[in-house]
Amino acid sequence: MDSFAFILHPLDPKADVARKYPTLARILPVGMIHFLSLYWPPLVLAHVRGVRSEATGKEVEGWLLACPLTARRMLQVPPQVAYRKIIQTGRLAERLGARILGLGAYTSVVGDGGLTVAQALQIPVTTGDSYTAALSVQALLEAAAQVGIVPERATAAVVGATGAIGGACAGLLAPRVRRLILVGRRAEVLREARQRLSALAAGPVEVTTDTAEVRAADLILTATSAGRPILFPEHLKPGAVVCDVARPRDVSPRVHQERDDVLVVDGGLVELPGRVSLGFNYGLPPGLTFGCIAETIALALEGRFEDYTVGKMLDLARVQEIEEIATRHGFRPAPLHSLDRPVPLERIQAVRARWA
Ligand SMILES: NC(=O)c1ccc[n+]([C@@H]2O[C@H](COP(=O)([O-])OP(=O)(O)OC[C@H]3O[C@@H](n4cnc5c(N)ncnc54)[C@H](OP(=O)(O)O)[C@@H]3O)[C@@H](O)[C@H]2O)c1
Repeated sequence: MDSFAFILHPLDPKADVARKYPTLARILPVGMIHFLSLYWPPLVLAHVRGVRSEATGKEVEGWLLACPLTARRMLQVPPQVAYRKIIQTGRLAERLGARILGLGAYTSVVGDGGLTVAQALQIPVTTGDSYTAALSVQALLEAAAQVGIVPERATAAVVGATGAIGGACAGLLAPRVRRLILVGRRAEVLREARQRLSALAAGPVEVTTDTAEVRAADLILTATSAGRPILFPEHLKPGAVVCDVARPRDVSPRVHQERDDVLVVDGGLVELPGRVSLGFNYGLPPGLTFGCIAETIALALEGRFEDYTVGKMLDLARVQEIEEIATRHGFRPAPLHSLDRPVPLERIQAVRARWA
């Protein structure tokens, strides 16, 4: 049977370690979890069975693996140290017989976005960022439709536009919106992105290193690897729709508490074919998974055992292709969620009232 493996790792040290080791997570201080994570060996979290293509009936099996490094450690240690740990986890996937490996969360953010890892392993690798980008733009546009924003008349901003997912999302939004603002930290890279995107764009493309400029935007997609909140209540105009792709999230909890006039939705969420369970609770409602996991499974169902999404510059043709592949096999964009829960109708109505 064709098979896949996917690497997860702890983002929230206490909550995520507790999913596998409840007692250890309770007794160990957070600092100790960060420290120990460097020395903990890779492990199998779940053996996945029963994912079946709606198009062909083909079934695949897979393994969810943990690369124990916490997100903070992954960013603190030199990239070579993180690569070593990710490759070690990839070797476990090889021993289990997986035919493709997906890199979850910061295992694809760190360093060169999977290139070094792919070179070191015998099996092909994908970051899953292509499908994540497609799903995130769909969630943003669906949220816009539900509150009555017409993209062709709207200003959109992409935060983290110099990143893999942010860059691809900017490419997907450019032909759809009246004006596009690219937000990042490196002015030179932003200017290069503007040059690339201007050819696709329906309207002006502007760049800024000042996050406060998202206040001009009706639609915001944020996908940074800051690892902490970077968008606060004062950054958002009344009626704004925000799609937060980042994990850990970019949008401050204060926005959810203080701004009932804006709509924040989760990016990159998808329903599995048949809403099967992957056998490990990584914090999402049953039947839902992340776009990066879905991309890996969809490639296994399709029999596309090749390095698919690697590196930091995504190919928009691949973003479109993986969306078609995943849809054919029965993956569906999740209904709108916020903080992993369905968006309440009252919130949509409150934001819609701003645009009436
Ligand atoms: N929801 C999902 O299913 C899903 C799937 C995969 C990934 N993700 C999440 O998506 C996010 C982006 O992933 P990626 O692969 O696109 O990462 P990436 O290629 O490394 O891009 C990260 C972007 O964040 C920017 N950035 C980093 N630190 C920042 C800070 N302190 N303040 C402002 N901007 C900062 C980077 O700017 P520079 O270019 O200046 O470094 C870059 O533009 C991550 O949080 C990841 O965990 C979500």
